[in-house]
Amino acid sequence: MLELRDQDYVIQRVRAGVLEQGTMDTLREAGVGARMDREGAVHEGIELRYDGEGHRIDFAGLCGRAIMVYGQQEVVKDLIERRRADGLPLLFEVDDVEVDPDTPKVAFTHDGERHELTAKAIAGCDGFHGVCRDTIAHALTERTREYPFGWLGILAEVAPSTHELIYASHERGFALHSLRSPELSRLYIQVDPHDDIENWPDERIWEELHTRFEKPGWTLQEGPIVEKGITPMRSFLVEPMQHERLYLAGDAAHIVPPTGAKGLNLAVADVRVLAQALTDWLRGGDASGLDSYSEKCLARVWRVQHFSWWMTSMLHRFPEEDEIQQRLQRAELDYVTSSRAASTMLAENYTGLPYGWEAA
Ligand code: PHB
Repeated sequence: MLELRDQDYVIQRVRAGVLEQGTMDTLREAGVGARMDREGAVHEGIELRYDGEGHRIDFAGLCGRAIMVYGQQEVVKDLIERRRADGLPLLFEVDDVEVDPDTPKVAFTHDGERHELTAKAIAGCDGFHGVCRDTIAHALTERTREYPFGWLGILAEVAPSTHELIYASHERGFALHSLRSPELSRLYIQVDPHDDIENWPDERIWEELHTRFEKPGWTLQEGPIVEKGITPMRSFLVEPMQHERLYLAGDAAHIVPPTGAKGLNLAVADVRVLAQALTDWLRGGDASGLDSYSEKCLARVWRVQHFSWWMTSMLHRFPEEDEIQQRLQRAELDYVTSSRAASTMLAENYTGLPYGWEAA
């Protein structure tokens, strides 16, 4: 395992926080779920808030599944600890990585020395900006959609003002109240993707959050902001997700807008398929799982792309929206919050479709 950054950066970088049912199960099966089960918080629903009213989507009642709020960097910590305990190589601050998918081979620099690894297969889990996808770009078709907004995210040292995540649609734009622990809140507001974080002093962020979450009888608690940043939003994927003996997984192969909380979960789903396929091939000589890796993953990728786009479109304000567009969004929100069939669709996608659902 080769990582560009140093260990502290990887552990400290604030990232996503919602694990689907299947992701929880995968971490437990892999023997890295103990701390998640002790310290994570199981959530059985979310709130959709608009026009000053909250509407609960009851995951447990609608589809019998739940999510876990547990920071992605906590998952990363647990994986690092396990890898070290197993005595397996894990190199940080690796540079100048070159990948040859045919041989297959990986060359890299570590501690000033050049190394070369000969492998049976390469898992390209190096993120959106990694080298693996670029190396095989000639064999891939890319599809991208940029959204005309981004998310300004903050981490605040204050007890969350809610027990469950709140997704708010407001005329000034989308807002999300998430959490990390009993003392830490994670909040987001929709902003212009080209806006500069310098334009957003803490008071302005809180003012905007108060406005967008406003609901009679409910108060948003403020606290010191310890982290803030703006992230653009896009839908992106490549087809296929493999070439020769290089297999792309996670953000190296696809990006979803964060409104469905799906990025990390989709990466875990890829890796689960890949791990099984590699095991079948290396232990049993059966390459059929590897050959169909991309096809199998892409069925879920497109489903999740749709769900993430749908949540995003329903909840955000688009520039130069006309009244029709606003009324259509409103009609969708009213339907999702009143029809059992429609809210079940949200619940089963948000908590994550079961593994193997696409084959059923
Ligand atoms: C988060 O807690 O960081 C989070 C939660 C839900 C989302 C996106 C991000 O949809």
